[in-house]
Amino acid sequence: MRIKDKVAIITGGARGIGKETALLFAREGAMVVICDFDAAAGEQTLAELKSTGARALFFKVDVTDRASVQNMVDATKGEFGRIDILINNAGITADAFLTKMTEEQWDKVIAVNLKGVFNCTQAVVPIMMEQGSGVILNASSVVGVYGNVGQTNYAATKAGVIGITKSWAKELGKKGIRVNAIAPGFIITDMTAKVPEKVLELMQSRTPLGRLGVPRDVAAAYLFLASDEASYINGQVLGVDGGLMI
Ligand code: NAI
Repeated sequence: MRIKDKVAIITGGARGIGKETALLFAREGAMVVICDFDAAAGEQTLAELKSTGARALFFKVDVTDRASVQNMVDATKGEFGRIDILINNAGITADAFLTKMTEEQWDKVIAVNLKGVFNCTQAVVPIMMEQGSGVILNASSVVGVYGNVGQTNYAATKAGVIGITKSWAKELGKKGIRVNAIAPGFIITDMTAKVPEKVLELMQSRTPLGRLGVPRDVAAAYLFLASDEASYINGQVLGVDGGLMI
């Protein structure tokens, strides 16, 4: 029960890393709010959360839509009275080589992975400021640090998230709000299902631990950073990549 009675919002919580994090947070005593634009997967994850006995809510929200983000945050405050943790996990890819990337591919990845992070945090932070406490965790990526072929748009957002994390850590620290990012390596989810098998094999062979990651690896890192055990950790980017980045 490392985050007992904390209220956590997890964006993109219906599937993949977000879902695993929601289930782990519920097991560790948190009240979990998942938001996702995939309603069917969201309802399914909500049912799994509730079957553990946890208090949980699901909101169908597109993080690019500021009004629906605000409604979700207001409803969470109304239900639980506070918001302790925000995990900006929702993210997408739309890969193409630079010469082939369309404006639409560029815009949609920026909208979800970067503006979505801004929208959700801007809606939650006034509540955390009033409380004098809060934790914000952002999903970056090894790609945001080292770049990747075919991921101009995605790399820009994941590097942007690192800049955002450090800026907010400086801006919000005095208000009792900690802000950190996680930079996962290649984690087996629907997102990496789109990556060619030979690229995944190459990444695995370059990983000192000799395996790809699983959502649980990232969820465990989020749990640590969200917990009071990490109370003096602020503005950091934690690699969860089996050593891929070293
Ligand atoms: P996923 O594709 O399995 O799950 C992402 C979830 O976000 C889905 O449930 C999807 O419906 C939701 N989502 C997407 N756009 C949304 C929007 N506009 N509004 C609300 N919900 C939205 O992805 P995965 O692998 O679990 O990734 C989670 C995060 O971790 C992403 O930010 C991703 O960029 C990041 N990441 C993932 C890595 C991997 O290897 N899987 C590596 C590094 C970072």
